[in-house]
Amino acid sequence: LGEKSTDVVWHLASVSRTERIELNGHKPAVLWFTGLSGSGKSTVANAVDKMLHDLNCKTYVLDGDNVRHGLNGDLSFTDTDRVENIRRVGEVSKLFVDAGLIVSTAFISPFHADRDMVRSLLAKDEFIEVFIDTPLTVCEQRDPKGLYKKARAGEIKHFTGIDSAYDAPTKAEIHVKTADQDIEQCALQVITYLMEHGYLA
Ligand code: PPS
Repeated sequence: LGEKSTDVVWHLASVSRTERIELNGHKPAVLWFTGLSGSGKSTVANAVDKMLHDLNCKTYVLDGDNVRHGLNGDLSFTDTDRVENIRRVGEVSKLFVDAGLIVSTAFISPFHADRDMVRSLLAKDEFIEVFIDTPLTVCEQRDPKGLYKKARAGEIKHFTGIDSAYDAPTKAEIHVKTADQDIEQCALQVITYLMEHGYLA
């Protein structure tokens, strides 16, 4: 990478946050889904996105598997690269929020510090941590992509929950247990939070 330029100035936007909220009819936010591989982050995030879309909200989903094909295609699964992965996604999420959207992000985002760093990029009510709390044993049983099998066989290194850490959230705004309820109930739990906290009023 080249040296950081000191000749960049911030350009003020001509459309305000309030004007965007008025046009969209809802408040913007990041629904930050975090959980183990196979926990159901993408499934629940997409179910929530569909429900919000059907409620006429402006939405988008940023999914780890997809973003790692493009923007973050240069990153591996070492701790350092996971930190950079989340840093970039945090910045992109901030842009989406600035654009007035409810953006659902589905990244393992295994470290407290990185999730808190993204939280600090946004206003207090703009970051909603959603812990997709599915026990490792259940994720491993599901193993939708056969990755746990490979990780146990030593064919994948640094696999979350096997030989790479996952810090479970301790202050998530929404705590979803996918082993106890179906996808629709999980998604409704998130929608209910948004309704009760005045995002969709
Ligand atoms: S992270 O930790 O937030 O940077 O990970 P993320 O960008 O969400 O990418 C997770 C998906 O990548 C696949 N995959 C792995 N996951 C964890 N550890 C290792 N080593 C790994 N290698 C590949 C896996 O399909 C993850 O998808 P999900 O949807 O979480 O199962």
